Order: sequence, then C-alpha cells, then structure tokens
Amino acid sequence: MDSDRDKIIKTYADHVYPGKVEFYQKYDIVLVPEKREGCKISDINGKTFYNCHCNGGVFNLGHRNKEIISAVTRAMETYDIGNHHLISKPKADLAKMIAATLPEGLNQVVYGVSGGEAIDLAIKLARGITRKKNIISAKGGYHGHTGFALATGDKKFKEKFKPVPKGFKQIRFNRVEEIKKAVCPDTAAVILETIPATMGIVTPDKHYLKAVQEICRENKSLLILDEVQTGFGRTGKLWGFENYDVTPDMVVLGKGMSGGIYPVSATVYNEKYKNFLKENPFLHISTYGGSEIGCIAAMKVMEISQKKQFLDHVLSLEKFFKQRLELLGAAYPDLGLKVRGKGLMMGLEFKDEMTSLFLIKILFDNGIYVVYSGNDPKVIQFLPVLNMSKIEANDILSIIETSFKTMSG
Ligand SMILES: Cc1ncc(COP(=O)(O)O)c(C=O)c1O
Repeated sequence: MDSDRDKIIKTYADHVYPGKVEFYQKYDIVLVPEKREGCKISDINGKTFYNCHCNGGVFNLGHRNKEIISAVTRAMETYDIGNHHLISKPKADLAKMIAATLPEGLNQVVYGVSGGEAIDLAIKLARGITRKKNIISAKGGYHGHTGFALATGDKKFKEKFKPVPKGFKQIRFNRVEEIKKAVCPDTAAVILETIPATMGIVTPDKHYLKAVQEICRENKSLLILDEVQTGFGRTGKLWGFENYDVTPDMVVLGKGMSGGIYPVSATVYNEKYKNFLKENPFLHISTYGGSEIGCIAAMKVMEISQKKQFLDHVLSLEKFFKQRLELLGAAYPDLGLKVRGKGLMMGLEFKDEMTSLFLIKILFDNGIYVVYSGNDPKVIQFLPVLNMSKIEANDILSIIETSFKTMSG
C-alpha cells in the first residue's frame, strides 16, 4: 500500500510538476519536507537535512524564524495584504528603513512579490527614465524567469518562448574591456548580480563593479545591481555591493526579504530619477506587491540583519567554513575542490560535473541538502543559514568530511 509520502509524490507528479518528480526520482534525491526549524528540514519520512542552500537566501534567518513569526502573528491582528491603491504605514516604514541603510539618494522603493517582478520593474524604469532601450547583462547570470528578467538571461531559458523582448545583450562577467565595448550612449542600463549565483558564485574582481559604474556614468546608462541573493547579510555586509566600493543607481531585493515566511520584493532606485514615476504613478501596478504582512516580515528581517553582532557572526562562520573546507580539499585532492565566495555565499567548485553531482547525492544521503549552479554544474552552491551555531556548523563540516571520504574511497 502507498504511504502518505508516496501519495503526496504521486499527486504532485499528477498535478504540479511531473518533470521535477521524474528528475528527483531518477537521481534518488526525493525530499518531501514536513517539519522545518532553524537550519534543518525533515522529510515526511523523518529523515533530517541541514539546508545548506536556503533557496538562494530565502531562509537566511533559518526556517520558521521565531522573531519573524511573532512579528507577523502580531501584525495579523491589525493588517492583511493591504490595498495597493492606498497609502500604507508598513510600506512607508519599511521603505524608510531600507533607504536608511543604502547610499545617499537610493531611497525610492517600489514593492513587488517576487525577484523577477522587481527585476522587470527595474528594467521598465531604466527604459522609462533614460528613454533608451538597450540592456546589458552577464552571460551565465540569472535574474528570474518573468518577462524582462528572462530576456536578460541565457538562451537555454528563453529560446522556447520566442519572440522574447528585443534590446538585450549579454557580455562575459569580470571582463572590463568587454563591457566597455558593449556599453554605448544607447544603453539604458547594465544589470548584474553583485555575485552571480547561477553562474557559479563568481565573485567580482576587486575593481570590476567600480569600473562598470564608471562606464555607465560615461554613457548616461544606469547600473542595476541584483541583490536578490547577496542582500540581507548573506555576504557578511547588509548589502553585497558594500564589499566592492560601488554605488548602483538601482538595487533589486527579494528572497531573504521575506524572512522565509511571506513573499515580498523591492526595486530601490535613486531619487534623482523619481520624476518618471511621479509623472506616471499608475504606470506600474502590483496588487500583492509589498503586501503589508510581507512588509512587517521584511522590517523584522532588516532589524535582525543589520546588527553588527549578526554580521560579525556571518563573517566568523565564513572563516570557520572556509578554513575547514580548504583543509578538506587538501586532504582529498582527487576531488579538485576550490572554495570561493564572500561571507556565507560560497561556491564549492569540483574538478568536474560528475564529481559535484555524485557529491550532491552522497551529501543528501548523509543529511545535507545542496544544489549545483544551474549554469555551471561543477559548482555546488553552499549557502548555509546565517544564524546557525558553531556546533551546527561543525556538524555540517563533519558530514561533508564523511561524504568526501565516501566519494574519494
Ligand atoms: C539573483 C536572482 N535574481 C532574481 C531572481 C528571481 O527571483 P524570483 O524567483 O523570486 O522571481 C533569482 C531567483 O533565483 C535570483 O537568484
């Protein structure tokens, strides 16, 4: 007789995503989460996993973070989704809070539901503000699967949906000369992830983003930084771009902003450009964008994530993980491990795709959930929960060591 778990898997395959179920069954990595708390999720069959991907940052503060839950629960006595036509206290308060943490002028906040929606708006704004059409993004980068966001991405994601919007061009990340050639007075904006995740957690060279900013200024083009994954403390700074001496014209926020509890995203742009939406206030609308409950969750996220003690903890975990992972890499040289990243946004690059895929399966069997980088599968995205204890981090490292041993042996 089918267990409850089998029934869920079958119903999911019948009505939601048959292809995903087939994929997970093929590699024997089926996970049906039930209980979740802090840095752990448990399958309905009782097997527990450390979540070391965190859905790209959604669970930065762990699963079912108690402070977020109590803020949201309290808020539900007064608030609901809100009405996007009307003026809203939670929306106003959150915008003020976000603006206070960003460089001067970056204080205009438009809310969305998802990262892709916020990226779409950033591109709409760039075109509307500059009255130019061309958008430049990075090959292998990823900004979402909605309209304009999809157009910034790689061919494999968009060719089945042709015709995609025109005016999009991709360049290689970290090549100053290449972007210099590509950006011209016709360019409305350059959009980059501060640390491209799907590309394989590729950190920008020291002066790259600053150089891109200058190239944008010379051409009166806007620089949009996608902080959907790098935001909210992931890199050890509240905003990832603070590591790179760069001031964007717009930033896009998502994932971790939700506190893992209520979806919300934002496009934040410089007040220099506020006339465009001021003159056209109904040109962009999102019914659920910046729902009031989501704003309450995000305010709690902001409160927690900007504390020095919290960010110091992220940096100390970074050091702890990096040192131990590098030692493990040296102890198992046949895996060809290279560790990179900033803060707890880490890429574990292995010698080839087979090695990383096998390891994902072994780690899964041993109780760690991770995924590979969609555009570079030899890199495992290692994004553990930011507020875990050293004991938990140590436990994760022991599981990784056991898994390396199995893989090597
Ligand atoms: C860097 C980045 N930008 C944008 C998005 C799109 O966000 P969403 O899936 O919420 O639309 C993602 C999603 O993975 C992302 O990783």
